[in-house]
Amino acid sequence: MGWRLKKTVVMVGMMGAGKTAVGTSLARRLGVPFLDSDEEIVKAANMSIAEIFARDGEAFFRRKESQVISRLLETERCILSTGGGAFLSEQNRRAISEKGVAVWLKADLPLLWNRVRHKDTRPLLRTSDPYRTLSEIYEARVPFYATADLVVEARDEYSVDDMADAVIDA
Ligand code: S3P
Repeated sequence: MGWRLKKTVVMVGMMGAGKTAVGTSLARRLGVPFLDSDEEIVKAANMSIAEIFARDGEAFFRRKESQVISRLLETERCILSTGGGAFLSEQNRRAISEKGVAVWLKADLPLLWNRVRHKDTRPLLRTSDPYRTLSEIYEARVPFYATADLVVEARDEYSVDDMADAVIDA
């Protein structure tokens, strides 16, 4: 038997923090559904995130992201992982605070860089100096993430299941 969630638990934080991995473990532990806004966008568009950015641009992606997040918040209580930029939008933050509990998976820059440096799936990092881009994005976003309801520290030495337990404890 799964838990009856009072609110959807919304994972927020930087790309590479582990929102999807920790969210999946959390959902399994609680016996509730797991959903991922990026995955929903990809399914609906039948294109990768990188393809959507390249073809339709970031603004289009952000509109789709807001639509998906508000739809998922309306339809079912679940663990919802969001893309790293989702919590910057005031509209999204408002929807999340009304229907959910935001959990910031807080990771430091070296950890994030280690996780994303070898992957080519994040269009925002396709610049001439991706480390610098990541650090600028990080600095700009931390004040928004810091307004989340709960903060859980992500570290390389913590297992995914330990971080999921930390969310439950919080
Ligand atoms: C983005 C993060 C990505 C994805 C898109 C934009 C961002 O999701 O939504 O590439 O703005 O940080 P992850 O945080 O799951 O990598």
